Amino acid sequence: MENTMKQFEKIIALQLKRIEAMKKENEFIDYAALPKIIIGVCGGDGIGPAITKEAHRVLEYLLKEEVDAGKIEFRVIDGLTIENRVAANKAIPDDVLEELKACHVILKGPTTTPRAGDPWPNIESANVAMRKELDLFANMRPVKVPSEGIDWMFFRENTEGGYAVGSMGVNVTEDLAIDFTVATSQGCDRIAELAFSYAKKMGKSRVTAVTKANVIKTTDGKFLDACKKVAAKYPEISFDDWYIDIMTAKLVDTKRRRDFQVMVLPNLYGDILTDEAAEFQGGVGTAGSANVGKRYAMFEAIHGSAPRMVAEGRDKFADPCSMLRAAVMLLEHIGEVEKSERLAAALDICMYDEKKLKITGRADGATCAEFADYVMSKLDR
Ligand code: IPM
Ligand code: MG
Repeated sequence: MENTMKQFEKIIALQLKRIEAMKKENEFIDYAALPKIIIGVCGGDGIGPAITKEAHRVLEYLLKEEVDAGKIEFRVIDGLTIENRVAANKAIPDDVLEELKACHVILKGPTTTPRAGDPWPNIESANVAMRKELDLFANMRPVKVPSEGIDWMFFRENTEGGYAVGSMGVNVTEDLAIDFTVATSQGCDRIAELAFSYAKKMGKSRVTAVTKANVIKTTDGKFLDACKKVAAKYPEISFDDWYIDIMTAKLVDTKRRRDFQVMVLPNLYGDILTDEAAEFQGGVGTAGSANVGKRYAMFEAIHGSAPRMVAEGRDKFADPCSMLRAAVMLLEHIGEVEKSERLAAALDICMYDEKKLKITGRADGATCAEFADYVMSKLDR
């Protein structure tokens, strides 16, 4: 009991400290004002290195002029592997974190997330740690199925909810386990603000909040209140809120789902709903995501490291589209809008229109390098 109270105290102190840091937060970084933008590239684990290499290659090709002119620098960061994390017994080893913090944006392959029973210690996920360390509070995940009129953008809160202290739960007794979920006014406000300002900028007419505020009353209640408060500042955008259970059902309702535009939701619901959404687009292998904060941003696939594919020698057949979509978002984020649009258009041709090469994840399909070549062949049209 005493240990539990101590742990609870520790969690509260940490979260109060985080609130103070959020209060001091600056505006979003202005990349145009930087003499040089540093792009870190981490391959990660499993199929990560294979698919990240392709996205890196495409980015180097697109940004050649900027790199030659010294305006952009790529920095490969090799240390973010499960082996190194286990050796340091840390979600992100100190030296790797330092390297990451010396960059402005990061392209990151999937990293293996330990869990109880694995051959390594049950340390925190590197994704989750990076999102928290770099305060990447907004996880933006687009999903598009043009043939069905689906064009969604999810704003998943990325630093709070069940993830904030997911590795700090307590076994009070042998029979009682407790985890904690966190919501702060600052954390809820900033994600709601970003979702609405994005909707306005992109000419969207609707923002939908997704919670379970009828049951998880305190934290989801706070999240929903923040969305309502921000919605009032955007009278031109219609706002509605749904519970996560019915929302999960509505995404398979072909009559209603195309009406959703921008969705804003707490961390765990965002994690789950975006995997479901990506499935309509062709699977998680096709979906990229932007983890955005005021100072840093990290771009990644929405899926895991697929160790089974590596064990079966199939990593070279992994789908690079998720990382290529992440590259599209990275380019947009650093202000290379034209290049971002070109890459997105090339991907659309290869993934939806022409489909000359097929990725199956096996030897009967294209390799990720062949697919990246195919995408590059469509860049200049
Ligand atoms: C994601 C992933 C991560 C998450 C895992 C790897 C920790 O599923 O980015 O959606 O749960 O956020
Ligand atoms: Mg996920």
